[in-house]
Amino acid sequence: MKHLIDFTAEQLASFEADAQKKYDEFVSKGITLNMARGKPAPEQLDLSDKLFSLTADDTGFIASDGSDCRNYGLLYGIPECRKLFGEILGVDPKNIIACGSSSLNLMFDYIAQCCYSGVSGCEPWIYNKNKKFIAIVPGYDRHFAIAEYFGLQMINVPMVAEGPDMDMIEELIKDPDVKGMFCVPKYSNPDGITYSDETVRRLAKMKPAAKDFRVIWDAAYIVHDLYEEGDELLNIFDEACKYGNEDNFVAFTSTSKITFAGAGVSAIAVSDRNFEEISRRLTLQIISYDKINQLKHSFIYKTLDDVKAQMKKHAEIMRPKFMTVLSVLNEELGELGIAKWNEPKGGYFISLDVETGSAKYVGELCKNAGLTLTGVGATYPYGIDPEDKNIRLAPSCPSVEELKAASEIICLAVKLAACKAIRESK
Ligand SMILES: Cc1ncc(COP(=O)(O)O)c(C=O)c1O
Repeated sequence: MKHLIDFTAEQLASFEADAQKKYDEFVSKGITLNMARGKPAPEQLDLSDKLFSLTADDTGFIASDGSDCRNYGLLYGIPECRKLFGEILGVDPKNIIACGSSSLNLMFDYIAQCCYSGVSGCEPWIYNKNKKFIAIVPGYDRHFAIAEYFGLQMINVPMVAEGPDMDMIEELIKDPDVKGMFCVPKYSNPDGITYSDETVRRLAKMKPAAKDFRVIWDAAYIVHDLYEEGDELLNIFDEACKYGNEDNFVAFTSTSKITFAGAGVSAIAVSDRNFEEISRRLTLQIISYDKINQLKHSFIYKTLDDVKAQMKKHAEIMRPKFMTVLSVLNEELGELGIAKWNEPKGGYFISLDVETGSAKYVGELCKNAGLTLTGVGATYPYGIDPEDKNIRLAPSCPSVEELKAASEIICLAVKLAACKAIRESK
């Protein structure tokens, strides 16, 4: 099949009329579909119901060191939970802090600490009027929102197949006002890209001009493979230690997409020095996190293998959903040259790039047909996609049947937007 751009005027008109007719049929059905947020589906949550029904008869109240989980204490988490996160993140349990139910909350608090107390003995960021953060784009809207909240000016760095554009990052970190970056190194949100060994090594080697430069290493999808053969991510702390750069990295994760979203356990993995700095703040901030929930999680998931077994069950639910969306995209748009997308091996998203200047219009067309997508622009800082081309698709929550209809609507919208763009450009 020819690329759409090479169609004659007559071919284009007939193609557009056909897409319009099919689109109008969807509009007339008055359906309501939502692919906006990467929430686990109810069947995924069902996989963890046992957690909710565990009682004291199952777990007891006592952690492996003899502490009573009903009481205050163990600010850094119960030992078995720290051990489990140590296995998940590939670090010594002594460098883990097992916390409450949200990793995003921990990231927010860490940036607040950098801003108000400073880290590595440096001046708090709040005093720096030119403080900047590298924003890997497309990226996670809530990361950008945190940076914006704390007044960090964001500088876009594009994602390439191996991770963020490292040439750009290596240039940017020469500026002492550039204080850090958020990143999702495995199955990135939204591209589903896992950083190559080379990218991880280049990040690990960085010697930023800012002594208090911090990479917020958001390992949200660290065990979230869709297929038996998942992507491998190099251990950032092992690499950074080779250059004495381990303080540059603060890693976060949670069980939000392993057990219950927003009701699991989160964790931080840090160097010894960062541990001390964080613990000085935590001591003031909280007496102890929810150790009962930590105990329940550790009762069910004793080792990384237990977690992996659970993730296989998640994958069995998620895989057909991803495959449905990808097969409709391939069938409908595959050869037209009007859109590009990734085929991730894990994570929660598919990132769709449409013709420059058309993403907003595609979003509008989808909305008018009853399909809500992640707000167009949300994958960029300040909600501004400079090329207006990226759309994040979140296939986890709807059913396979709903996803089939949703993907067809998306493809029709992409076709209509492309026809309009081609017509207007001629
Ligand atoms: C990259 C990323 N980080 C963090 C979160 C939120 O994690 P939590 O539930 O642990 O706060 C999400 C949720 O979608 C995410 O996509």
